[in-house]
Amino acid sequence: MRDWHGKIAFVTGGASGIGLGRALAEAGARVMLADIEEAALDAAVASLRGSKFADVSGGVCDVRDYQAVERAAQARVEAFGKVHIVCNNAGVAGRSGTDGIDLQDGRWVIDINLMGVVHGVRAFVPHLTCHDEGGHIVNTAPMAGFLPGTGFGPYTATKFAVVGLSEGLREELAPQGIGVSVLCPGWVRTRITESRRNWPKEYGEPPAPATGPTQERIAELVRTGMKPSAVAALVLAAIRDDEL
Ligand code: NAI
Repeated sequence: MRDWHGKIAFVTGGASGIGLGRALAEAGARVMLADIEEAALDAAVASLRGSKFADVSGGVCDVRDYQAVERAAQARVEAFGKVHIVCNNAGVAGRSGTDGIDLQDGRWVIDINLMGVVHGVRAFVPHLTCHDEGGHIVNTAPMAGFLPGTGFGPYTATKFAVVGLSEGLREELAPQGIGVSVLCPGWVRTRITESRRNWPKEYGEPPAPATGPTQERIAELVRTGMKPSAVAALVLAAIRDDEL
């Protein structure tokens, strides 16, 4: 996809972090940010509109809830008639490695990082393929989507799954003119280590955060990680060049 002007985009987890919404808006797309964190979402939309990207809107959407994702897809189509770009980007970091799995924490990570992507694909593919202007899906995994490390048990499992899902989807959708990319960055300077701020009550009390040298090292790596704007630029290039 080389011409971004007026293209309709949808980005989950758009209120914080990597900033795919900003990059797409700067490139000329009309962007909807979807996120579970309402105040941060409002601030992100206001900031983009303040930067003269009037075609940015926001919608509270919990990617764990398929009906909510489908409603967001429908709203996008009702407002603009079609959708071209979907970034399934919302994600959370779980508590600790495979030796310290907490069941509720593991479910939360899987529900967002894996089922959130499945929901986004299921809800949006019919809208991407029903017009002949082409489209692109970007699913966010990390480098841990193919290089397992310590301290990330369920998180790594979800991201391996997202890589596999994306590779298969790319083959399936290519004949219909839909590209698929999977974003696998190393460390990025975002709020990922504060994921627990969005812990939902229905999972009960959140487990105590893991502490120790591994966690300190991870926090340091995120603090000194890549600039989000540099990662977002790579994503735009991948969509443009249709790179997996
Ligand atoms: P972040 O915490 O800054 O942003 C994540 C966003 O997802 C937040 O706005 C949060 O409110 C939202 N979110 C959380 N639960 C949600 C839900 N149920 N429904 C909708 N939105 C929800 O973190 P970051 O780093 O920007 O994370 C984005 C993606 O990047 C994640 O998939 C993460 O796994 C991935 N990633 C992050 C890396 C890093 O070092 N920060 C490295 C590689 C990948």
